[in-house]
Amino acid sequence: MSIRISVLVSGGGSNLQALIDAQQAGLLGNGKIVQVISSRADAYALKRAAINGIPSIVIDKNRFPKDADRNAAILSALQSASTDMVVLAGYMSVLSPSVVGAYRNRIVNVHPALIPKYCGMGMCGQHVHRAVLAAQEKESGATVHIVDEGVDTGRILSQERVPVMPGDTVETLAARVLEVEHKILPAAVGQLASEIERIK
Ligand code: GAR
Repeated sequence: MSIRISVLVSGGGSNLQALIDAQQAGLLGNGKIVQVISSRADAYALKRAAINGIPSIVIDKNRFPKDADRNAAILSALQSASTDMVVLAGYMSVLSPSVVGAYRNRIVNVHPALIPKYCGMGMCGQHVHRAVLAAQEKESGATVHIVDEGVDTGRILSQERVPVMPGDTVETLAARVLEVEHKILPAAVGQLASEIERIK
């Protein structure tokens, strides 16, 4: 039996691509991506979904200005696709407790820093790398963790470091961190999918 995965995105979707590639290479175990949900209508991730024949849906602030309505729409889309597991792959919004509670221990997020450093409300995407460079850190990295009701506070599943190089810009550091994300996210998703199947 496959573990049905919905992937939530907001932007370029390189992590979504890494998950698709891993699935095609048989590296997601029994995990199967069945749906992509985007918080932005112009996300390139939607194109990646289309190219790979994965159904997608936009649930954004234009269609659902109220947080409660947007999260109800997300929950309903997850349930309609018989989702077993949710992956936040560059998803720039915070899920409400109603969604987190419905998928307790079955939602993972990838974050572009070494949690507990450089995380929490507002600390996402390029803001993270800018803050790491401003603090003259010697290293950064990526973290995959379970999503709970806090922001970036759930149990850490996997983490990998990268060096910050002299002369790094937000772009060069982001690219080095992304490379690591593309490795640890599919690995963690494959592992969690096996665990979910065991208890299903
Ligand atoms: C990734 O670096 C991801 O870790 C980060 O956004 C980028 C999305 O890239 N996510 C967050 O900051 C969430 N707090 P992608 O769209 O190419 O996968």
